[in-house]
Amino acid sequence: MVVVTEPTAIEGVIRKAMENGGRGTGLEIIDDITKDHGLPYALGTANYEEWKKTRPLANVLLNPSLVNALTPRISSIASEWVNKLKELGQVQQDGSIVLPNLKSNLNLYTMENIVALTHGKRFGLTTPGKEIPKEVQQYTAAVEDTVARLTEAIIGGYWIHKYIPTKFYKDFSSSYLFSYNFAKKIRNNETSTPLQPTTDGIQNLGAAYAALAKKNGFSDQDVLAIDVGAVVAGVDTTSAVLMTVLYELAVNPSIQEELYQEVCAVMNVSKEPLPLIEHNQFKKMQILKNFVKDAIRKSPAASQNSRTLYSDTEVLGYHIPKNTEMILFNYGVNRDEKYFENPLQVSPHRFDKEDAKINEYSMLLFGLGERSCPGKRVAMAEVYMMVANLVYEYRLQCNEKDYELTGPGLLYPKVTPQNQIHFVQRSK
Ligand code: HEM
Repeated sequence: MVVVTEPTAIEGVIRKAMENGGRGTGLEIIDDITKDHGLPYALGTANYEEWKKTRPLANVLLNPSLVNALTPRISSIASEWVNKLKELGQVQQDGSIVLPNLKSNLNLYTMENIVALTHGKRFGLTTPGKEIPKEVQQYTAAVEDTVARLTEAIIGGYWIHKYIPTKFYKDFSSSYLFSYNFAKKIRNNETSTPLQPTTDGIQNLGAAYAALAKKNGFSDQDVLAIDVGAVVAGVDTTSAVLMTVLYELAVNPSIQEELYQEVCAVMNVSKEPLPLIEHNQFKKMQILKNFVKDAIRKSPAASQNSRTLYSDTEVLGYHIPKNTEMILFNYGVNRDEKYFENPLQVSPHRFDKEDAKINEYSMLLFGLGERSCPGKRVAMAEVYMMVANLVYEYRLQCNEKDYELTGPGLLYPKVTPQNQIHFVQRSK
């Protein structure tokens, strides 16, 4: 395995993958589960032909007009979650609220968004006063487990299951299968919890998928695999990013205030409830965008990308034979003083300066090239809308000046009893 920590070298590897083909490293484990259980290939597959066939389905998500239209819906789901905060958390003596299971609670928000987007259905996971159904708790837990194991497999190259039936592989398979079967139930209206259709008039992806399926000859199974991929790849990752962003808000009260002022100014509100944010209003929230960008630079939830090339290549003068696993270590680049001044400090103004032109290969949270994340626009919209709605209602505080990160899979702040976020309602 080769670890690449230099932006131009990372760029070289990704470009080579685009010319001669390549795949994400370590994802073969999902292919093994797929084959063992007769499932359709999911995106991310190491099987290049299968991947190339179904990727156009996922590209639907990258259409900017889709995300623009989705902004008010996502804002509304964020606002619901913020209103449900008291129910989800524990009210402290000083009136602040803490959520010991902050990450899982954020998964309710990201899950609600993805199910609404892909299926046009609402579980009501963010609706105040509504209990979280047990089967959904199991579903989010299975997705969380799948992602944790997958990221571990990418780093650790878990291949031993090909020879010995390991517990890791068995547990991984059962989480993935649970996720797969539950997505199928959602599609077929077979969940025990009745789902409500969305009522905001925004089309779910079904229509776009159906048109593509007809044109390109995709089966219903192919489409289901994309739905599963969206949930597996898009729920836990987005909540991990949110964890980082919320902790960065909590340790940076002056930035929080700037964001609050920006939201009030753009939305022209001060005391009244925050209206749903439209895309053209969000576009004016430059401090918000730059703050989030720098927070995820400092602590990227996906600490690395990976490529295994189908041809030999050269990296910084070293010959790398084809099929070598390569880790493109963006965490290392993002915290390197060579590329970012004061790398451990987060500032929405880092990107203000004219000369702050950042090499895009030095900030690879979503990967780049033909295999890059198709959900990046949706994920970022979820993050922005949550931050805008949250800072309008609450001040976020924590005792310590920084946070530790979990790992080795997805990276996000570790919640400890000493360093929980306290949500303090703003007096209006
Ligand atoms: C902030 C949250 C997210 C992060 C950090 C993230 C990160 C990534 C990364 C690093 C990759 C690999 C890219 C590469 O190898 O170049 C990826 C792939 C992928 N992501 Fe995301 N992602 C996020 C959210 C989402 C969402 C919301 C969805 C779906 C709605 C999604 C769907 C996918 C899929 C299907 C792939 C596989 C693409 C392929 O193999 O062609 N992701 N993501």
